[in-house]
Amino acid sequence: MINRKDFTGGYVDLPFVCEYYDHIFSDLEDIQFYIDLASRSGGPVLELGSGTGRIMIPIARAGIKITGIDLSDRMISILRNKLKAEPDGTVSKVEILKNDIRGFDLGKSYPLVIVPFSTFQYLLEVPDQLSCLESCVKHLDDGGTFVLSVFNESISRLSDTSLYKEFDITPEFDMPDGRRVFRRFRYVEKDYTRQVEIKESVFYITHPDGRSERLVHKFGMRYFFQYELIHLCARAGLNVKTVYSDYNYKPFDAAFREGRMIIIAEK
Ligand SMILES: C[S@@+](CC[C@H](N)C(=O)[O-])C[C@H]1O[C@@H](n2cnc3c(N)ncnc32)[C@H](O)[C@@H]1O
Repeated sequence: MINRKDFTGGYVDLPFVCEYYDHIFSDLEDIQFYIDLASRSGGPVLELGSGTGRIMIPIARAGIKITGIDLSDRMISILRNKLKAEPDGTVSKVEILKNDIRGFDLGKSYPLVIVPFSTFQYLLEVPDQLSCLESCVKHLDDGGTFVLSVFNESISRLSDTSLYKEFDITPEFDMPDGRRVFRRFRYVEKDYTRQVEIKESVFYITHPDGRSERLVHKFGMRYFFQYELIHLCARAGLNVKTVYSDYNYKPFDAAFREGRMIIIAEK
């Protein structure tokens, strides 16, 4: 069973999910895309679900102020630790707020609001998705830019039953204390009516004393179709300008397996 109380996708309840996060997502291709958007906006930027600062820190290093909101104390504390190694000029650009992206009021607005790397897909139900988008609109300057990135579940992937068997997903890595960690992945269940997929990220750990451990991160994710997101954005007051399939500005292609759906909208 997934823990229905942890609606953040496991980041509040499961320490190992937070601990391994930066090791498994160290080479994603989206950072320059967000730095470019942030530079064009001039900042400050608001990021929803800012996690360990994978995107916040590079934006702050580029000299742009960024506020991140997240509900996970563990992810926030990893970010705070990482900031200790950064110069004052970078640290001063970063503001971290513990808040729920499903509805928040910071009392200010931004020229750029971003929801990177599938965070929005943890919002399984429409009322949560809509209230999140409405909060984004409330925090956007008039004419400001809103960016939402989700995984594109292509039709071929949606019907691919081979994904139910564990498959390799990210390279093996070592933790500073000598643990060797290997991660696999599988789909467990697909609810085509609710558009929710239950997935498992499975960590195989070999401890320095030779003991082995298997830890399972089971979580639900909502998948979206292009026009659904465009309509949802419109309901919240956002006008979608462009949809991309990758971070190199490839126009959206619904059949693109492993591609993304990156919504660029304006208030
Ligand atoms: C996949 S991580 C993305 C982190 C970061 N944006 C990145 O790109 O690396 C998702 C983050 O969203 C946070 N999150 C999920 N649901 C949330 C909610 N309802 N309110 C606040 N944060 C949430 C999690 O705690 C986690 O840090």
